[in-house]
Amino acid sequence: MNYSSLTNLAVVACPGGEVFADEVILHLQEGYRRNFEVMTAELAARYNLDAPRAAAGINFINDVLSPPVQYVSGETGGFQTPRFKTATRFSFFSNGEVKAEILESIRGKDVYIVQDVENHYPVLFNEGKTRQVLSVNDHLMTTFVTVDAVRQAGADQVTLVMPIYPYSRQHKKKGREGLTASRVGKILESLGVNRIITLDIHSREITNAFNCLRLENLHASYQIIRSLAGLPGLVLNDDFVVVSPDTGAVDRNKFYATALKKPLALLYKERDYSRISKDALENNISEIKLLGNVQGKTVFMADDMVGTGGTLLKAMQFLKDQGAGKVIAAISLPLFSGDAVSYFDAAYKAGLFFRIIGTNAIYHEAVLQREWYITVNITKLFAQTICRLHQGLSLSSLLDNRDVIVKLFAET
Ligand code: R5P
Repeated sequence: MNYSSLTNLAVVACPGGEVFADEVILHLQEGYRRNFEVMTAELAARYNLDAPRAAAGINFINDVLSPPVQYVSGETGGFQTPRFKTATRFSFFSNGEVKAEILESIRGKDVYIVQDVENHYPVLFNEGKTRQVLSVNDHLMTTFVTVDAVRQAGADQVTLVMPIYPYSRQHKKKGREGLTASRVGKILESLGVNRIITLDIHSREITNAFNCLRLENLHASYQIIRSLAGLPGLVLNDDFVVVSPDTGAVDRNKFYATALKKPLALLYKERDYSRISKDALENNISEIKLLGNVQGKTVFMADDMVGTGGTLLKAMQFLKDQGAGKVIAAISLPLFSGDAVSYFDAAYKAGLFFRIIGTNAIYHEAVLQREWYITVNITKLFAQTICRLHQGLSLSSLLDNRDVIVKLFAET
């Protein structure tokens, strides 16, 4: 690790992404501490020094190569925890406009802006004096002004850490409609974003319109499978089947079926796109068919997102009607829009499913209290990705974690 650039990595948290950013930062700090300890031990052995002296040597070189304003006060014989988080001020004006200000120098830095555009809990503006609930569009506009502020402040590289990519479902056109998913990326690119880190993006085609912007698409499969394997009373025997909830989710579910060495079944849905899914009951699915057998079996079904919940609830009801036993769903991006949580409450009561495993890609409070919901934490995965990107290291083992999953099952 190049310790002279330790403090060159900066994190800017948008109001919606503050909680996610803080957790990522804790993992970054822990990762840097571990690396520091490994390097200290190696240098101590190599140069026949005691550990504090080796640590002081690393800190000395780091201080020499860092601008004076970046010196960390305190003892020099140990790990000096980098702060990473950049001081910012976000203002919300009475007409709904927002403003982002960067309150310290980030000139020449590798900046990671963290945003959660689906955080619909009150977020803080105006030095904490204004609590405001933001729509996706408000969050998106806040992202734009933040990227611009970071660029205007002289950042060297700008990466947008956006666990959910906004408008991702508008990725292809059937009639006279826009390609909004790609256009959002193009706007971000034109503002100066070099890279986006996201999770389980609805369609990779979105990147076809970008010029230079790189999109790193992470998966929470390891975290989800770990959680699945820990479910009480769950046996991964011959009566276990992975079901793809639609044709678009086949690759994702094939991955799970292969990793778990279980058969794959498929639900085929016809959608009536003249209808807009209003809530879980009024959705646009007109017909479902099943390829495969779920009779008496435990079903595991992974989808990229839950919005109103209509798609998933309809699939669960259909699987139950086909004689399925326990139904478990895994969702990378649990939006739970509108009254979705209460529809799932009712479905759980009616025995339609056993558990839903979701990630903390989207900030939630209420659903975390539900017996039927399990959340898996993906902030360490994002911290590892940021750390590797910052150091110019390969992401391959994080993007394709099949080996780690095989090892996980070998251990259990
Ligand atoms: C569809 O292609 C997606 O993968 C999701 O299944 C869908 O967007 C979920 O939306 P909702 O929960 O509103 O039915």
